[in-house]
Amino acid sequence: MTIDRRSLLSGILGSAVALGFSRVALAASEVERVDDLISRMTIEEKAGQMTCLADAFRPFNPPNPDAGIQDVKRLAQEIRKGRVGCLFNGIGVAGARKAQEMAVNDSRLGIPLIFAGDVIHGLKTIFPVPLGEASCFDPAFVQRTARAMAVEATAAGLHLTFAPMADVARDQRWGRVVEGAGEDVVLTSLLSAARVRGFQTGDLRRNDSLVACPKHFAAYGAVAAGLEYGSVDISDETLRETHLPPFGASFAAGALTTMAAFSEINGVPATADRSLLTDILRGEMGFRGFVFSDYTADEELVAHGFAEDDRDAARLAVLAGVDMSMQSGLYIRYLPELVKSGAVPMATIDVAVRRILYVKAAMGLFDNPWRSLDEKVEATQIATPAHRALAREAAARSVVLLQNDGVLPIDPDRGRKIALIGPFGEDRDNVYGPWAFYGDPGKGVDIASGLRAAMPDSSLLTVVRGSDIRTGIPGGIDAAVKAAGAADVVLLAVGESQDMTGEAQSRTTIEIPAAQQALVDAVAAAGKPIVVLLRHGRALALHDGVANANAVLATWFLGSESGHAIADVVLGKVDPSGKLPVSFPWESGQEPFFYDRKSTGRPVLDNGSTEYKARYATTDNSARYPFGHGLSYTQFALDQLKVADPALRWDGTIEISARLTNKGSRKGAEVVQLYIRDRVASRTRPIRELKRMERVTLDPGRSRTVRFTLSRTDLEFVGADNQRLAEPGLFDVWVGQSSTGGLHTQITLYAAV
Ligand code: GLC
Repeated sequence: MTIDRRSLLSGILGSAVALGFSRVALAASEVERVDDLISRMTIEEKAGQMTCLADAFRPFNPPNPDAGIQDVKRLAQEIRKGRVGCLFNGIGVAGARKAQEMAVNDSRLGIPLIFAGDVIHGLKTIFPVPLGEASCFDPAFVQRTARAMAVEATAAGLHLTFAPMADVARDQRWGRVVEGAGEDVVLTSLLSAARVRGFQTGDLRRNDSLVACPKHFAAYGAVAAGLEYGSVDISDETLRETHLPPFGASFAAGALTTMAAFSEINGVPATADRSLLTDILRGEMGFRGFVFSDYTADEELVAHGFAEDDRDAARLAVLAGVDMSMQSGLYIRYLPELVKSGAVPMATIDVAVRRILYVKAAMGLFDNPWRSLDEKVEATQIATPAHRALAREAAARSVVLLQNDGVLPIDPDRGRKIALIGPFGEDRDNVYGPWAFYGDPGKGVDIASGLRAAMPDSSLLTVVRGSDIRTGIPGGIDAAVKAAGAADVVLLAVGESQDMTGEAQSRTTIEIPAAQQALVDAVAAAGKPIVVLLRHGRALALHDGVANANAVLATWFLGSESGHAIADVVLGKVDPSGKLPVSFPWESGQEPFFYDRKSTGRPVLDNGSTEYKARYATTDNSARYPFGHGLSYTQFALDQLKVADPALRWDGTIEISARLTNKGSRKGAEVVQLYIRDRVASRTRPIRELKRMERVTLDPGRSRTVRFTLSRTDLEFVGADNQRLAEPGLFDVWVGQSSTGGLHTQITLYAAV
């Protein structure tokens, strides 16, 4: 399959211009420059541009010592020979300038390096983990935090981030749920695109524009049984309906790189899957940037049993459409010989190199190799008070109030004695969450510090650890029960440590560790009001003392400002407004669980019959806390559902509105959500599908009518032959405050006449 320059160029320009977002315009002179370079490059120099290695000049996340080049002298030599195109996971302007000088001044062609890194939820100012931040259901806000992260990342000498993670996570046992936006395709699409816009701005040439890399292409979130790096077996339709749209939205938002997943789909590892990386990614989706492998994922094709040896792995990966090999060094080692032997056409190499050089041109590196390498910016734009304030706002908005009998908020002026119990009460080692390795250890604000800073009389706060994260401590429970007995209200800070979530942290159960459960149950028996502050990177199955608490707050891993944000919510300075981006099941055994599940032929209906129904013997297959759920300290009510005309014409639109009222006594925010259900279709459809959401803030007693417009495209699904289509017929519509309940109506889509 030959790819001529014009289609590639029009593709890049087309996708860039068509995006209407990245005002990147590759001038003819840039195209000529790339053409000229390619015409002069040796095969080694071409393979060098296709090689990405861990940055040994400024190591920050010590790479696997068995891979890459840790010897700085040797890495310097490789750069001077033009055998490296990208360095990753180092930060610091001085080190980057040194490496860039070697590439630009010492190598034969002077092609600048790209500096990449995993800025997933912050560099030095750590924001909530992406799953936590997804609880805000607010793309505009997420774009703001991504922008702040990009300012810090580019100030530290990075050009590109391996983010957003655009994987839709369908099983909470999978550790990487924490890195994305949860279980829903629409929420993940909206937030991934918002993160891309926040990272990149509309001008990739800006010094503070951070090139995005939506990852991991594709369907990594569908690994069987939530087993990390596991296999994915899904239909073409589900791939296109659930797992590809967030990438499409990210590309439409301007992302010009992506990363192939470690996992395989239907027996073919993504890293060697030409159908995925070329036919679908470039043919169907029109992607025109370049593709990274994941970390040594090309080398791992041998372990997959898909490549005979490293040489074969390099051949398979480059022919599939992986343009940049990360960390293995296979491309620089084998591509020259593979081309000389004819196993890989030079044209294939040239296409890959052109994609990479076009992106370097698009981000202005050829005109300014010193872009984002300014020590003065580094000294002033990182960990600023403004970023910490935004991180505190993001943290508070990420908190989800799951249940509350009125014990919250605690009025700080009533002089109540508070016992803060649990391993995360004074913990600073687990406030950032995974993928925050640039953050300064121990600099995050713990819960106790946040409360002390917010309480008029902090002597009323007693802190008892009670148990370690995974094990009990001698006398811990006794001390905790005693402290609870002496308090007016108990805060239980329990959950997962950050090393229990993230990459390679799949769990067989999604519960809090037994030692902590024992602590909770013992303290609950003391009979005082209990507020559970959950720390977690996934949905959890909650039981006993946790599930029966007077109030439960989902607090995820909230980043640098954790303690202040939790105090702001617990003491009522901030009204909780988060909504769950993942369903909390009753039991771990229900996973994979997601709200947009199928009806089956024997659904449990409202009449309550459970005999011979699609449920577990001991557990209804519903959620303890459903996707989209989240309470406030005030009370919101929806009424006045209106559909202008329930007949949706084939090429028409339909307006659906409802009135939201703040019935309570405090200002608050609600996320109004619109779901549909296609009652009859040529492929079974989920019982609910999120289609619209709007966050509304209202003063007490105020109302606002929320209006949504739907068209046929909102009713489409992927049917036979992988074609998106809508089918005439009846659709349920709900306007509600979560994925259950809500105001219900029906509309009918009529065929074109
Ligand atoms: C990791 C992850 C990927 C990350 C890359 C570079 O293994 O899978 O998400 O961006 O390596 O650190």
